[in-house]
Amino acid sequence: MLTKDDPKLDQLKQTIDQVMQKPYSDSYLIAVLHKTQALYGYLPEDIINIISVDMNIPTAHIWGVATFYHYFNLTPQGQHRIAICLGTACYVKGAAQIVETLKQQLKIDMGQTTADGLFTLRPARCLGACGLAPVVMIDDTIHGELTPKKMSDIVNKHRRQAKKK
Ligand code: FES
Repeated sequence: MLTKDDPKLDQLKQTIDQVMQKPYSDSYLIAVLHKTQALYGYLPEDIINIISVDMNIPTAHIWGVATFYHYFNLTPQGQHRIAICLGTACYVKGAAQIVETLKQQLKIDMGQTTADGLFTLRPARCLGACGLAPVVMIDDTIHGELTPKKMSDIVNKHRRQAKKK
């Protein structure tokens, strides 16, 4: 929940102030959305409303820009982001089975976050590790030559580590 003395909001307001000193351009709005996502992990609706007022841009336009770029997260993201490669090499080597394993184990669909906030699952194009297909990237780490069992073990390992913290 957003509060008035949120230090992240102060940082965001500084970014807005900087871009508002120049004539408006969509690229400045994108810079502000990037800053929002860097601070909050996604684009919260109440922050979009603040940006709309401060930059004098209709919210519909801001959401239009935000949804055009796949980079922007419109919902809160999990602690770990799992990107599953659906590129050709991975698909041929069984990515569909890995997708099913993840969906069943995490009880979520693509683009969703687990109820405990631990994982977000998203599709990816080629992750540049075709020789290790099928591949997922969890946060910044590539996991390759996956089988359903190996995938399941990796998820369980992350869950155990999260419980220890
Ligand atoms: S197709 Fe999956 S890493 Fe290239």
